[in-house]
Parts: sequence; structure tokens; C-alpha cells
Amino acid sequence: MTTSSERSVWGTRLGFILASAGSAVGLGAIWKFPYMAGTNGGSAFILPYIVLTIAIGFVVLMIEMALGRASRGGAAHALGHFGGPFWAVIGKISVLTGFLILSFYQVIGGWCLNYLFDACIGKGLITDTSALGTYFDSFVTNGPRAIFMQLAFLALTAGVILFGVEKGIERISKLLMPTLFVLMLCLIVRGLTLPGAWDGFTFMFRFNPEAFNGSSLLNALGFAFFSLSLGSGSMMNYGSYLSDKVNLPTSVSWISFLAVLASILGGLMIMPAVFAFQLDPAAGPGLTFVTMPAVFAQLPFGQAFAILFYICLVVAALTSAISILEMSVQFLVDEYHFSRKNSIAVNTIVLSVLGIICALSFGALSEFKIAGKTFFDLLDFLTSNVGMPIGAMGIAIVGGYLVWPVMKKQLTLTHPMNDKILGVTHFLIRFIVPCVIVIIAGAGLLG
Ligand code: ALA
Repeated sequence: MTTSSERSVWGTRLGFILASAGSAVGLGAIWKFPYMAGTNGGSAFILPYIVLTIAIGFVVLMIEMALGRASRGGAAHALGHFGGPFWAVIGKISVLTGFLILSFYQVIGGWCLNYLFDACIGKGLITDTSALGTYFDSFVTNGPRAIFMQLAFLALTAGVILFGVEKGIERISKLLMPTLFVLMLCLIVRGLTLPGAWDGFTFMFRFNPEAFNGSSLLNALGFAFFSLSLGSGSMMNYGSYLSDKVNLPTSVSWISFLAVLASILGGLMIMPAVFAFQLDPAAGPGLTFVTMPAVFAQLPFGQAFAILFYICLVVAALTSAISILEMSVQFLVDEYHFSRKNSIAVNTIVLSVLGIICALSFGALSEFKIAGKTFFDLLDFLTSNVGMPIGAMGIAIVGGYLVWPVMKKQLTLTHPMNDKILGVTHFLIRFIVPCVIVIIAGAGLLG
């Protein structure tokens, strides 16, 4: 991919799939999925997440990328171009949503860097399970250290964008993303063979109708959007770089499959170990970080595993962060004619400030709450459960109603598509996606 001030184009289909899968597969799968499952009743969250990703997420992603490719522009441009000024505002809300996601995402990226650093100096294994939570808490409440790591992660993200995505991150991703999957499989086998681990597996997959409620469904929908980076501008932006020679439906199937697979693997890596070590599955955002040092301590060559794991995790987080920053940078270039360098500078400065407030939400600002939530939790909640559904609704209405013939052309540009499949896609995007968003978001937000 070139990143000049002109609009970029992906070099190859593989490059596009990898970069988009890289955007999808990130901290969502390994950090967010396990703790969301833990705080939302396990299977009551996981099963709807899988169904919603297949029935809703996949279709929205396909139309989001089709809108980007057809308009050769990001969310604000594409929705405005096809739908008019009102939809341009919805596009801008999408861009803002992505930007706010990166505001808190960088903090977790910083946590990954911190754990990588600790693993390198031999502090990555913890055998005393009672010390796991204390170790995590002492880091996240240590403001200067958490801020330093968060800023380092943001600088790394901005650096990659500045020096070129193709040569750096795409090459590293090709090597490290498969490594991450293999490592996760090794850690899953170790976790599942620990005494008591099976309870974690049951917690994840045993159908428990009593645990279902509006809030678990809203969180499942929010996470389905989060994990596919939907309605937050970045996928539409990546779609806008896509050559007309690429078959969109197959590529999007791969991206969605990898995103779901990564989340399930992330859950299987953490949840059985949580039960085996008798940790609290509802412990919240620290769950993965609290659990992994104990798993590494149970492995031969645990330190080497830990180092490799955190390197892969940093790269997974980076590929997602890059897609969001790239989108925000491109937004200022396209809409307000910033130079690319100035846009990177402005975005990075504002993100640093918001990121510092998010990092301090776990320490000095933990008592500063808006609507009962810390600044970090508020941004997480608003982006997943409000901003992304609004963005997805814009995609559904504009793509499904206003310019369906353009979408149809995009979906069949390289290969014909069976009429029945096209019909089902059109039905889903016109009726099911908007209804599900309204019902679930309404039920969840009204409590
Ligand atoms: N889709 C990205 C992730 O899951 C934001 O990490």
C-alpha cells in the first residue's frame, strides 16, 4: 500500500485481507472478549456474539467496504456522497467513534508493552496466584509508568504510519499473526489440561437461557462491531484503498472468519485458566493480564513463551491501532486538506491527551466518573454500544436503500453472485440489520 497524499491502493489481495484481518484481530479477541464473556454470563454473551457476527457483522462489513470502494473515500465522504449531508454527519460520527476507540485502545496497547518489558527482564511468570491481581493493580495504578507505556504504544503506531504501512507492518504481520495463532493453540492446550479448567469451557459454551438479558445482548452486539471494527470508519477507509480486481465477498468472509476464530481462541486461552486458578471471571478489563503470567509459570520455557506471546500481542494491537489512526489521518487530509504529516501530528497530540486521561482512569482519576463510569469505561461503552451501532445503521440505510444497485455491482464486480444469496444479503441489510440494531441497542440502553 502506498501512503502518499494521493489516495492509496492495496498492492495485493493478500495484503488487503491481512491488513483488514489485522485491523479486526487485535486486543478485542485477546483482551476484551474474555473479560466481556466473564462479566456477561459466559455463553449468554458468546453464543449471541457468534450469531450476530455471522448474521449482521459479516453483511455490514461487506457493505461498509463496498461503500468505501465505490466512493473511493472514508466514512464521511462515502456516506455524504451517496446519501447527502445528513448521512455525511453519520459518517463523521463513525470517524469520531474510531478516534475515541483509539483513545482507550492505546492504554491497553501500553499494558501489552509493559508486560512484554517485564517478561524480557524475567518478571513474566507468577506462580503465587494470590499475587496476580496485586501485580496488575500496582502497574495500572502507577500513573507515570502506565502513561509512559501508553505514549510509547501511540508513538509506535504513529511511527509506522509515518514511515509506511506496507514495508513495516504488513511484512511483520505476515510472520507474527500466524505465530500468534500457533502460540494461542499451545496456551489453550496447556490451559485446558490444568485441573479444574473444564469448568471454564462449560462456562463459555453451555447454553444457559437464564443468563440472557438485554445487557448481555447489547454487549454481544457491541463486541461483534468492535471485533470487526465496524461502523468506526477504519474498514470503510481500507475498502476505499481496494482495487476493483478483488472479490469482496470472499475477502470479507476470510476477515470475519479470522475475527471470530481469534475471539474464540482468546476465550479458550483465558477462561479455562481463570477457573483452574480460581480467579474471578468477572474481574473486568485486567482479566487477560492477570491470568497469563500464571499460565506461563506452568509451562516449560515459560519465559520464552511469555516474550513471544507479548510480542505477538503488541503486533496484533498495533495492526488494529494503525487501521484506526490511518483512518483519522486520512479524514483530515480528505475533508480539511491537511498535509499527511500535519494530520498525523494533530491526531497524535489529541490522542495523547485523551489517552493520558484514560490511563489515569485506573489510578488517580478512578473516582472521576460520568454516568457512573470512569472516563475509560465511558469511552469503551459509548463507542461499542452507541457510536458503532449508529455507524452501522448509516451503512445499512445508505447501502441497503439509497444505493443498492451500486452495492450489487460492487459485490459482483469480479465474480457473479447467486441471485438468492444477493437477495438474502439485501434482505438482511435492509430489514434485519436495522431492526436488530434498534431492538438490541434500545433494550440495552434502556436497561
Ligand atoms: N477490531 C479491533 C480489535 O478487535 C479494534 O481489537
